[in-house]
Amino acid sequence: MNEPLKIAVAGLGTVGAGTVQLLQRQADHLTLRAGRPLVVAAVSARDKNRDRGADLSAARWYDDAVALAADPDIDIVVELIGGSDGAGRQVVETALAHKKHVVTANKALMAEHGTALAEEAEAAGVSLAFEAAVAGGIPIIKTLREGLVGNRLGRVYGILNGTTNYILTTMRESGREFAEVLAEAQKLGYAEADPGFDIDGVDAAHKLAILASVGFGRPVDLAGVYTEGIRHVSRLDIDFAEELGYRIKLLGIARLTDEGLEQRVHPCMVPRATPIAAVEGVYNAVVAEGDFVGRVVLEGRGAGAFPTASAVAADLVDIAAGRRVFPFGIPAAELRDIPGVAIERHQSAYYIRLMVVDQPGVIADVAAALRDEDVSMESMIQRGRAPGEAVPVVLTTHLTVEAAMRRALSAIEALDTVLEPPRMIRIEDF
Ligand SMILES: NC(=O)c1ccc[n+]([C@@H]2O[C@H](COP(=O)([O-])OP(=O)(O)OC[C@H]3O[C@@H](n4cnc5c(N)ncnc54)[C@H](OP(=O)(O)O)[C@@H]3O)[C@@H](O)[C@H]2O)c1
Repeated sequence: MNEPLKIAVAGLGTVGAGTVQLLQRQADHLTLRAGRPLVVAAVSARDKNRDRGADLSAARWYDDAVALAADPDIDIVVELIGGSDGAGRQVVETALAHKKHVVTANKALMAEHGTALAEEAEAAGVSLAFEAAVAGGIPIIKTLREGLVGNRLGRVYGILNGTTNYILTTMRESGREFAEVLAEAQKLGYAEADPGFDIDGVDAAHKLAILASVGFGRPVDLAGVYTEGIRHVSRLDIDFAEELGYRIKLLGIARLTDEGLEQRVHPCMVPRATPIAAVEGVYNAVVAEGDFVGRVVLEGRGAGAFPTASAVAADLVDIAAGRRVFPFGIPAAELRDIPGVAIERHQSAYYIRLMVVDQPGVIADVAAALRDEDVSMESMIQRGRAPGEAVPVVLTTHLTVEAAMRRALSAIEALDTVLEPPRMIRIEDF
């Protein structure tokens, strides 16, 4: 048997503790797969006395995670602290500077600094692996980087955030409004006390930026991801979506067009018959479309201690077995700067919901505003009659350039008979 691989785990929270538990429980199986034992030789967290659900007596304890990352006896540093800057970043940079392999679940760090870190890892001749950073237990990084290497990808998209998928699923199933379901999700521990990261789409944007880099061979460009969350999705929209044959999902979409690369995170209406529409609750799913393979769909748990630990373990075994790949599949210097396409130039079909005064001529004014911007309407629903009062009017459009849609909506919002800002959700026909 080969020498054990000595692992240092920085951060023993949800993922860190789950990883240590997995490594202990699956030790024999992993040793066979890796060709050598994987040993947790050092750990660090803030509170030494907290029970981590695993026997850590054989591991050296470090109060200072950065010192752990520099420990000369360690082969791989697993960074599970988090945050795009601060201790997590310092741990990763210190480990790379000391020519140690790094495994991380830190999507914020990889989305903000991934390209530079990949360069540092390559210069040091070590691995930088981050399977756990995107969609938890779903092995999407390896799939894009290795499994689908024979393809040119046209589109990669998915449900990349379990919290928002849980909220949207529960709103639909229970008929309750966003704020109420969010409060319940917080009580159940599915949403953070400060939920902005999830519900405003930031977490999904981090993951999409990483996926786009691996999938399309370009530097990570978080700033180029158009990001919109789910706060404005109402129960009314969910009901109308059902009626029109759609489900509302927060999707991250990266798509290569003749103009460049689109990267966007926003609520979408997807046809109920598509695989992604059936992915409910906290589950994630990622779809990749390749020119030779066609469509590949992966679904699974996108977060949680054990699913995420499963992804960390896969990276550890690759490194232990000597399987080295460039972090983004190709040398960082070869990542091509594909131009991004601004959201105003994206094309989509749209769902628009208006609250209008129920009186003659309103629909004609709305139709005129759409006509003036060359927006072609596909369908319209007006529910109930309440002369002189507010009623919802829903319309869907054919494929339209976003800038034209936005101009039309500004004109519609300016009408006296339109009582609230129009609600707009893009429709994706996968
Ligand atoms: N949770 C998930 O399901 C999930 C899924 C995918 C990816 N991730 C990513 O995995 C990473 C960890 O997430 P998590 O949910 O496990 O976080 P967490 O539960 O908050 O755990 C963070 C850990 O880091 C430790 N820590 C914080 N500051 C430290 C410092 N300066 N030095 C040493 N240790 C420090 C904490 O110590 P104490 O325990 O002593 O406070 C804790 O053990 C993040 O990058 C996250 O985005 C998480």
